[in-house]
Amino acid sequence: MKITCIGAGYVGGPTMAMIAYKCPDIQVVVVDINAARIAAWNSEELPIYEPGLFEIVKAARGRNLFFSTDTQKHVAEGDIIFVSVNTPTKTRGVGAGKAADLTYWEGAARLIASVSTTSKIVVEKSTVPVKTAEAIEKVLRRNCADPNVAFEILSNPEFLAEGTAMEDLAKPDRVLIGGKETESGQRAIGVLKSVYEHWIPTERILCANLWSAELSKLTANAFLAQRISSINSISALCEATGADVQQVAHSIGTDSRIGPKFLNASVGFGGSCFQKDILNLVYICETVGLKTVADYWNSVVQINDYQKQRFVERMIDAMFNTISGKKIAVLGFAFKKDTGDTRETPAIDVCKGLMADNALINIYDPKVTEAQIHNDLSLGKFMWDHPTTAGTKSPRQNSVSVFKDAYEACKDSHALAVLTEWDEFKRLNYQKIYDSMMKPAFVFDGRNILDHAHLRSMGFIVYALGKPLDPFLQRNYS
Ligand code: UDX
Ligand code: ADP
Repeated sequence: MKITCIGAGYVGGPTMAMIAYKCPDIQVVVVDINAARIAAWNSEELPIYEPGLFEIVKAARGRNLFFSTDTQKHVAEGDIIFVSVNTPTKTRGVGAGKAADLTYWEGAARLIASVSTTSKIVVEKSTVPVKTAEAIEKVLRRNCADPNVAFEILSNPEFLAEGTAMEDLAKPDRVLIGGKETESGQRAIGVLKSVYEHWIPTERILCANLWSAELSKLTANAFLAQRISSINSISALCEATGADVQQVAHSIGTDSRIGPKFLNASVGFGGSCFQKDILNLVYICETVGLKTVADYWNSVVQINDYQKQRFVERMIDAMFNTISGKKIAVLGFAFKKDTGDTRETPAIDVCKGLMADNALINIYDPKVTEAQIHNDLSLGKFMWDHPTTAGTKSPRQNSVSVFKDAYEACKDSHALAVLTEWDEFKRLNYQKIYDSMMKPAFVFDGRNILDHAHLRSMGFIVYALGKPLDPFLQRNYS
């Protein structure tokens, strides 16, 4: 059997690496139109950072795992074609700001149709709006010259989270495969199931109809994001009442019906999925006339924007209502720890908010490159997933400096803000940092990872999300 995956990104790369690693009898080829990305997958410096990924790639690469730009050849030869191309939010036209842009998906479908001379199972891996399979099937059928070639579409949404992708792939809570309820649909489900059964217990492989599988992915992400927005909304109330959001989260999380995960209040959720998928869900609800349902899910995104804005306002207010010309050290730019990914990271909106008030920003992140940071701060909303618009320079580049060392970033700054929960930030020498900063020295902990009492004992004025406010901050906050 040969598997070909179109799209060598955060989903396609790690997922195919794991399939190849666990299934030595299957040949797996990942293709991409981005030659630089493919070259990186074939090098010692992979295009994405993911703990454990390199080891798995090394073990399988050249054996039964290959990365190639020859899309036509490998798609033609594949029995199963995974499609994990980008599905950005539309930035113009009908549904702009909400609907998914299926340009790349359609391109992949046209490619499959044009080169296929044998029947294929086409697997939706990237998140797509419900009923995409139906549209894709039409594109495949109408564009394939050979009437004897059959296409069977499956939805096999990916549930891996970045930073823990390899663990999630090796031991998933479940694998979901959606297919048509026809005989050929069920047969195709069986073929894909046999791939996963190489390492995943059968009872963890769930089968559903196509639309349920597609909708499950959007719903899973909407529920997870909703938990974060819920606890983030409570963090604002905690600050106003003197309650402690971590105590509240712990108390409710011990209720087995609620559970302890995804209750960390933060400066906001980021990542390529949550906002995009919820907006997609909102758009689908609107198009079928469910306005109240659309509003409900949209409020999850609104709370997220509110949380980022609130954080910026706290900083400005604490620092005597002016941050103009003040240096602010930003520790962490990635959307979460253990990844260099910055897609929809809350750091972008926080930095833009601070820049709007004329602050000077010193950024340090262990894994994000300087070019990436400048690029992110120069792009408009939703533009990150449209490759043609990437790469422009920040108009305010002078106000942003990127450092390779946390201590250097903090030197002579008025405040430091923790925006990503990297473990190394817990281990910094804060006395050394305090001594190098302007006074009063502020800490704004957007992830609640630091030892606040210890910082206060050194003289820092500390703001921690959802925690009782320092008397100093209470006086200033209006
Ligand atoms: C998410 C889903 O978890 C995954 O199943 C899906 O396939 C893709 O989207 P990912 O975006 O990689 O994965 O990261 P996730 O761990 O879900 O975190 C998303 C964001 O929420 C991050 O910015 C993270 O910092 C934030 N978060 C998470 C919180 O603010 N609080 C929490 O308690 C948990
Ligand atoms: P994800 O996080 O979902 O994996 P990425 O943006 O990281 O998304 O990866 C998607 C990849 O798909 C990109 O590397 C892009 O170049 C690739 N891609 C998009 N369209 C095509 C296509 N028609 N053929 C091959 N690769 C494609």
